[in-house]
Amino acid sequence: MNTEKNKRIALITGASGGIGTSICKKLTDDGFIVVANYRNREKAEEWNDTMKADGYDLMLAKGDVADFESVEKLVAEAQEKAGGTIDVLVNNAGITKDGSFRKMTFEQWDSVLRTDLYSVFNCTRHVINGMLESGYGRIINVSSVNGQRGQFGQTNYSAAKAGIHGFTKSLAMETANKGITVNTISPGYIATEMVMAVPENIRQQIIAGIPVGRLGEPEEIAALVAYLASDAAGFVTGANFAINGGQHVY
Ligand code: CAA
Repeated sequence: MNTEKNKRIALITGASGGIGTSICKKLTDDGFIVVANYRNREKAEEWNDTMKADGYDLMLAKGDVADFESVEKLVAEAQEKAGGTIDVLVNNAGITKDGSFRKMTFEQWDSVLRTDLYSVFNCTRHVINGMLESGYGRIINVSSVNGQRGQFGQTNYSAAKAGIHGFTKSLAMETANKGITVNTISPGYIATEMVMAVPENIRQQIIAGIPVGRLGEPEEIAALVAYLASDAAGFVTGANFAINGGQHVY
């Protein structure tokens, strides 16, 4: 909390991606001080210029979420810039390196596990003490429909994304009586660069299997994140929210 401005502080990892951008905008609109994490300076500066042009003045913090020590520096920089400890952590950073298992290399497995799952440990580990001291926190972990149901070509990604919810459930139990909530959201196929990288013919088949009949919009994910980040969501913890247009119901 930045006590001078009386504003809560939110750290969003992987901020410059499609979903991350929408989350940054929505939480800023909702009155948070938003710290946007990035890894690649050039890309981040370009992104920040477009955010500024849209009227969003964010704080940027560099760090590789796959690297525990890098995250330590990232969190220190974020807290210093924002003027207080992190109240809301959105573990949003993620990558795909798809391939059928018989062709999957160790590098494809390792890099996806590090970026998509180890990152959740790395970032949460470095913010949790601040949350425990202040007696307040919101941790929102961005998983995927493909962590809930599996996907041809994604043994690495599905393993990481399924692992995230195991983490959520256990940490939610450890922190429930400390004012800290921990939740997972599991987006389906959202109109972002990541999904647009799926070959066109395969993407069309996927869309045909979504009962709502279209890809999701990043803003639809950001709206759910904003609810979970709010003071109003204090009784919601350990949950996994499917937001997939009916593609996977269970
Ligand atoms: N189900 C069943 N069989 C399938 C299949 C599927 N979905 N896709 C391919 N196959 C079959 C092919 O018909 C072919 O069969 P034969 O050998 O009998 O001819 C065989 O598998 C091809 O296997 P390959 O190992 O050669 O696969 P490939 O190199 O052609 O492509 C792939 C595999 C790269 C995984 C490709 O299928 C693909 O890109 N799939 C999409 C994966 C996907 O949905 N990724 C999501 C990215 S977005 C994201 O992850 C965000 C989120 O959270 C939702």
